[in-house]
Amino acid sequence: MSELPHRPLRHSDLADLDHRDPLAPFRRRFQLPKGVIYLDGNSLGPLPTAVPERLSRVIEEEWGRSLIRGWNDHDWIGLPLRVGEKIGRLIGAESGEVVVTDSTSVNLFKLLAAALKARPGRSTVLVEEDGFPTDTYMVQGLLDLVGGHRLRRAPAEKLAEALDDDVAVMLVGHVHYRSGALRDLHGLTAAAHHHGALALWDLAHSAGAVPMELAACRVDLAVGCGYKFLNGGPGAPAFLYVARRLQDELTQPLSGWLGHADPFAFEADYRPAPGIARHLCGTPPILSMAALDTACDLLLEADLEALRAKSLELGGIFQRLVEERCAGLGLELAGPADPRQRGSQISLRHPHGYAVVRALVERGVIPDFRGPDVIRCGLAPLYLRYADLGAAVDHLRQALEEEPWRRPELQTRQGVP
Ligand SMILES: Cc1ncc(COP(=O)(O)O)c(C=O)c1O
Repeated sequence: MSELPHRPLRHSDLADLDHRDPLAPFRRRFQLPKGVIYLDGNSLGPLPTAVPERLSRVIEEEWGRSLIRGWNDHDWIGLPLRVGEKIGRLIGAESGEVVVTDSTSVNLFKLLAAALKARPGRSTVLVEEDGFPTDTYMVQGLLDLVGGHRLRRAPAEKLAEALDDDVAVMLVGHVHYRSGALRDLHGLTAAAHHHGALALWDLAHSAGAVPMELAACRVDLAVGCGYKFLNGGPGAPAFLYVARRLQDELTQPLSGWLGHADPFAFEADYRPAPGIARHLCGTPPILSMAALDTACDLLLEADLEALRAKSLELGGIFQRLVEERCAGLGLELAGPADPRQRGSQISLRHPHGYAVVRALVERGVIPDFRGPDVIRCGLAPLYLRYADLGAAVDHLRQALEEEPWRRPELQTRQGVP
C-alpha cells in the first residue's frame, strides 16, 4: 500500500499514484469511450483492443475461407479446452480441470446434478441465503426434477454451522454479487469436506480479479462467467471446474454429443468422455469463444497479485474519498469495511440508489444498481485510474446534491438496471 497524506486527498495525490502504477500501460489495451468512467467491469468487462482484430480474422479468414474445415484447420473444436486451460491458470486450477461451455446457470445445473449423484443417501443442498438468485433457482429446478431432496439456506457467515452429514453439496459465491463480500474459499471448503459434502463455488465475481488457488484449497467444483472480469464480451460463454480427483466419478445429466467419449463415432448410446470434456454438451459458440480467448491472453499478461494489490488500494481510496467528499449525503457502505474482505468492488447504499445511478450514468460515470438500494461500483485494476476515482466521487457528490430522485424520468426502471 502506498503512503497517503492524512489531509483530504487531492487530485495531485491520485495523479501521482497513476504515475507510479505498474499496471497503467494496460489501460491502452482496452477500447474505453472518451468521457466515460467505467465502474461496471464486474458486470460486463470493456472491449480489449485485440478482440475486434481477432474476431474479424475468425470471421473473414477462418469462417469465410475455411468454412467447415475450420473445426480442424483452426482447431475450433479444441477451443473450449484451450480457453479452459487459460482460465485455469487465472483461478489456480491444474491442467485439465477447466472447460469453457454454456452459461453459468446451465453449468450450475450440470454440476449440482453430478454432485447429488456422487453423494447418494444425502438429501440436502445447502446454499448461501441471499446469494445470486440464479444459484438458488437452479437448485430449485433440479430438486423439483429429481424429487426427494431439499434446499437449506443459511447466511454466508453461518454456512459452516449449517453443514451436517445430510448435505450432499454446498453452493456459495466467492464474492457476493451485491455487497462485494469475499468468502473464505479454503475454510468453507474444508468445513464442507469435514461433513463429507462437496463444495461448489460460484466464481462469477472473483475470476480474473481475485487471486485464488482452487487446487491448493481442494475445491471440488466451480463455475463462473466469461463476461465480467474476464472481459469476454456480452453473453460470453461460462467456465466450469471439476477437481481432477473427482472427474472419473462425476457425470452430468446434459449428455450432449460433444461430451461423448467419441463424438464423431455417432454411436447409439452415450459414453462420457474422460476428464473435463464430459461437461461439454453441444456445439461451442466459436465467435464468443475466440473473443474470450483473446481477453484471457490479456489478463494472463498481468500479474494477478499486482492486480489484487491495486484493487485493494482502489477500494480503500474510493472509500476514503466517499467519506471525505460525500459526508452527510445519505450514503452508507454496504459490505465489509476492510477492502481485504471484499472482491474488486465497493457497494454503497442510498435510499434513492436507483435514481442516483441513473444520474451518474447521465454524467458519464457508469456503476450499476442492485435492489433495493445498492449502488455497485466495480473497481477493475487493469484499466481504472486512481484519478478516475476522484472524478467519479466528485460526480457522485454533485449528483446527490442535485437530488435526482425528484426527477420522475430517473425513477422509471429500465429493462436491465
Ligand atoms: C454470481 C453470479 N452467478 C451467476 C450468474 C449468471 O450467469 P449466467 O447468466 O451466465 O447464467 C451471474 C450473472 O450476473 C452472477 O452474477
